[in-house]
Amino acid sequence: MRTHYCGQVNAAHIDQTVSLYGWAHRRRDHGGVIFIDLRDRDGLVQVVCDPDRAATFATAERVRNEYCLRVAGRVRRRPEGTINPNLGSGEVEVLAHELEVLNPSVTPPFQLDDENLNENVRLAHRVIDLRRPQMQRNLVLRHKVAMAARRYFDARGFIDIETPTLTRSTPEGARDYLVPSRIYPGHFYALPQSPQLFKQMLMVAGFDRYFQIVKCFRDEDQRADRQAEFTQIDVETSFLDESEIRAIMEGMVREVFREGIGVALPDPFPVLTYAEAMRDYGSDKPDLRVALKLAELTDLARTVDFKVFRAAAELADGRVAALRIPGGGASLTRKEIDDCTAFVGIYGAKGLAYIKVNDAAKPNEEGLQSPIVKFLREDVLRAILERTGARTGDLVFFGADRAKVVNDALGALRVKLGHEKGHAEAGWRPAWVVDFPMFEWDEEAKRWGAMHHPFTAPKDGHENLLESDPARALAKAYDVTLNGWEIGGGSVRIHRADVQSKVFAALGIGAEEARAKFGFLLDALQYGAPPHGGIAFGLDRMTALMAGADSIRDVIAFPKTQRGQCLLTQAPSPADERQLRELHLRVREQAKP
Ligand code: AMO
Ligand code: AMP
Repeated sequence: MRTHYCGQVNAAHIDQTVSLYGWAHRRRDHGGVIFIDLRDRDGLVQVVCDPDRAATFATAERVRNEYCLRVAGRVRRRPEGTINPNLGSGEVEVLAHELEVLNPSVTPPFQLDDENLNENVRLAHRVIDLRRPQMQRNLVLRHKVAMAARRYFDARGFIDIETPTLTRSTPEGARDYLVPSRIYPGHFYALPQSPQLFKQMLMVAGFDRYFQIVKCFRDEDQRADRQAEFTQIDVETSFLDESEIRAIMEGMVREVFREGIGVALPDPFPVLTYAEAMRDYGSDKPDLRVALKLAELTDLARTVDFKVFRAAAELADGRVAALRIPGGGASLTRKEIDDCTAFVGIYGAKGLAYIKVNDAAKPNEEGLQSPIVKFLREDVLRAILERTGARTGDLVFFGADRAKVVNDALGALRVKLGHEKGHAEAGWRPAWVVDFPMFEWDEEAKRWGAMHHPFTAPKDGHENLLESDPARALAKAYDVTLNGWEIGGGSVRIHRADVQSKVFAALGIGAEEARAKFGFLLDALQYGAPPHGGIAFGLDRMTALMAGADSIRDVIAFPKTQRGQCLLTQAPSPADERQLRELHLRVREQAKP
């Protein structure tokens, strides 16, 4: 029987006999004495095998990296000068009395402590990759997050109810994964993009408070913060208004951070409207660690001759805005400014005008260095300096385009330069973003789409705008953002069938289509549906942030690559002819993937 995990052995155990199980992390033969760093999920401890014990020593000579071992031995203090303060067990070592190879290992595909591993190599050998202490810590943290969330909701009367995985399409804006039915030729289940419709029906069914930690499936482009298959902490409540729902939900986030990594998040979280977030940060998930803000110039730009500004300002959905980089005159080289221009190009910006403020007291070609100063009147330049708060030594960037392009470009530049040039603080800056628009214009389809999803309630007093002015209709929708990530999003739902019909109409979903797709929900709403609302948090994203991981792949045991593959199991893979026949499917001739 094991007496301790390796990382737990410490000075309190000196002179005790311990029994350990684990893997050989490293073996060092110091001629005469062999050291084995024994590793298990909890950490490392140094095991010493000396030649006095011939059998143990002989076994130690055979041990190679990643052999699975049993060790029994006596804990002793390490000799002076060999103490390792980076290790929990660093003051002690275990003098082995018994050493048993439980199973040898072939040579591992990589060194576990290699810092520069290629991710695809890691994913192809995920079992070995998961042995790395960092990955072990990440998955333990994920467990803690999930447990803390469960405890939090359980303590507040929320009931964990499972919803189906083989189901009908739930519209969350992504493509569905379809599963062909064997029994009904040509019919398909969809994997849920979220349990949205089921949790609403559970409210109609009277469960009042529901939660579930649940897999969701979205066939969309994979990114650092997106997987095809990911996990939501999904919640729904009845009889609470928007601010009451938000209070309960942010309490969960605080608890999870306290329990998971000992961080106290602010209470309450600050609240920003969507309009404020876009105006000041160009983003609906602002990184509030960055101290920089955008300045609005659209109205001013309408009065100038400079065509780039004027044309953008006169667009119905145009915007001209500026971003001041304090001290940027000195901290940004010419080359870096050019790099920034290329950077905003990713977001569709056609240029990146700038002004270097050499002397703020002279708002003209004398004090300002810039390719655009000659196009702007002195009063305009003075107003620009005033609105951006620019002082001598600063650099001001400009975006002029459709608002979406300006916001994406300057919003991203703000975060990039904020962190690179020392305008960001460390720590945790959560915020609610509220009052989202009901709809966003889908340029491709030439129609309105739901900004959150089609079951989101309009703000009180905005019901009439659904028809008359959809662009201005705001929703009772809210996101939780943290350090520039959206970690959760939800809304108060429509609980009346007549309002739901209006929203479908605004989205161009006809009565017949609505009935065919969501008839079951519309029917349910007619049986005294309670007012209800909820939210879903991205468990992967929350854990990745807490772990300091760059990608959610690092907190998922068996993730997929950017190209949607599991390199370990080689999924997706072709199906054999018999399976296809059973499912009434034939694969079309096409290029191999
Ligand atoms: P939404 O689509 O905003 O809302 O999703 C909620 C949260 O889930 C996380 N998330 C993802 N995480 C990893 N990979 C993905 N592909 C991915 N997509 C979303 C995000 C996001 O904030 N039914 C609604 C919730 C509700 O209204 O209650 C929904 O799914 O952190
Ligand atoms: P141009 O007149 O195209 O030579 O542009 C003059 C300056 O304005 C250059 O510094 C460009 O980088 C910049 N610029 C051009 N288009 C835009 C735009 N849409 N937004 C911001 N700056 C721009």
